[in-house]
Amino acid sequence: MDLRIAGIARPPPVTIAAFGRDIQAHPGESVAAALIAAGQWRFGEGEDPARPRTAFCMMGVCQQCLLRVDGRLVQACLTPIVAGQVVTPA
Ligand code: FES
Repeated sequence: MDLRIAGIARPPPVTIAAFGRDIQAHPGESVAAALIAAGQWRFGEGEDPARPRTAFCMMGVCQQCLLRVDGRLVQACLTPIVAGQVVTPA
């Protein structure tokens, strides 16, 4: 599944490991956008199990996209894709 808009020129894809699987992502997009485009909407558990965390504002305000990238806690919406990244829940 790829939810990206078709027909837009992008750099060649690279592979990252996220939530236990390999995902194709394009340098220049954020980790959050790449995950969502790959169908990985659930970023973590919220206080209410019926309402898991996912990216919401996509501009660094809400903190709902916190994840670990290569072991560091980051805002996924502000973290650019780099080949070989390993993304895990916060
Ligand atoms: S989606 Fe809101 S801070 Fe990242």
